[in-house]
Amino acid sequence: MNATQPSRSPAPASYELARIRADFPILAEPVRGGRLAYLDNAATTQKPESVLRALDDYYRHRNSNVHRAVHDLAERATIAYEGARDRIAAFFGVAREEIVFTRGATEGINLVAYAFLLPRLKPGDEILLTELEHHSNIVPWQLVAARAGARVVAARIEDDGRLDLEDWRAKLTPRTRLVAFAHVSNTLGTVNPVVAMVREVQARGLPVLIDGAQAVAHLPLDLRALGADFYAFSAHKLYGPTGFGVLYAKRERLEAMEPWHGGGDMIRSVSFEGSTWNEVPYKFEAGTPHIAGAIGLAAALDYVAGIGLENIEAHEHRLLEEATARLASVPGLRLIGTAPGKAGILSFVMDCAHPQDIGAALDQQGVAVRTGHHCTMPLMQRFGVPATVRASLALYNGSDDLEQLERALHKTRRLFA
Ligand code: ALA
Repeated sequence: MNATQPSRSPAPASYELARIRADFPILAEPVRGGRLAYLDNAATTQKPESVLRALDDYYRHRNSNVHRAVHDLAERATIAYEGARDRIAAFFGVAREEIVFTRGATEGINLVAYAFLLPRLKPGDEILLTELEHHSNIVPWQLVAARAGARVVAARIEDDGRLDLEDWRAKLTPRTRLVAFAHVSNTLGTVNPVVAMVREVQARGLPVLIDGAQAVAHLPLDLRALGADFYAFSAHKLYGPTGFGVLYAKRERLEAMEPWHGGGDMIRSVSFEGSTWNEVPYKFEAGTPHIAGAIGLAAALDYVAGIGLENIEAHEHRLLEEATARLASVPGLRLIGTAPGKAGILSFVMDCAHPQDIGAALDQQGVAVRTGHHCTMPLMQRFGVPATVRASLALYNGSDDLEQLERALHKTRRLFA
């Protein structure tokens, strides 16, 4: 692997952007009467034909509940669903028992907070985070900390968006019970040195959770080699369906945890005297699952594997360099987050207008970006801004999208000047 640090090979000549784009029908959708430049990929990615077909095929030809009945459709659904788990596990280099299906990264983090950490948390304990976390990697920890009389501590971020590793190390103390951090910041694009961080945390015998929501679609990842105890991500940021995600957890961690949600499928036996639990990962998958979600994610992984994450990473890196140069041509624009080796996320403010107004003006010109605090309010406070405009890249973006963004920004500036 290179689990996780961006490689810097040039985009290969074989990167067929036009062909890739043709796989995403929505990219041809006119917006505001003109061409769409979709640059809101950190919020959600668009879906290729192969994923749309997999979802359609499932509902047309296999739809049934899983793990329950013996009829033909039930068998087809179960084979497709469990086959998807095998493909997902193989993609990330781990065992199928370590892949827990969730509603998304947020639910995966909550699962670890409630089922793993809370029963082990004591008054005075600390959970170490960083200032660049998404709310979904802050609030679940605050909720369990409040129940146990523990507290959340956050390591500081440097002015360029890098994690201050000295501060992070200083805050790793005998009171620390769990360490959690983002692989890639959804607001700044900072790529944390996760391999080294995992080693440092585990050298102290502590469990570590990584929020991989913004990483999985953008860089090669071998979860076995990375070695984190927990790694959570969402399918919809990886060209798959919404409402579905994965919590990877080391098998021994899952075995040692009590269930979180109770219901069908997570039990071995139920009586009014007491119940016993199914094996992992099913112990953590109560109720009828998002069957099409699993099938859609497996199709999405097949799709990105067909292009190659090394190629995607190199393509997006080249685009990031071009985008950074184009934004530098816009007077009064300030980038927030310039850490070396960052991923394809460009957050910025402009001196002429509020980010919300800039976002609305860009939308009128067909440019889709996100504006606001990006569910990272502590990070906004850290940088002293109420909000930013955020353009985020994906495998189907090209220079034409960046040119449209640059042109729209110049026009927006003239509008507000
Ligand atoms: N977490 C997603 C984002 O950063 C929704 O936009």
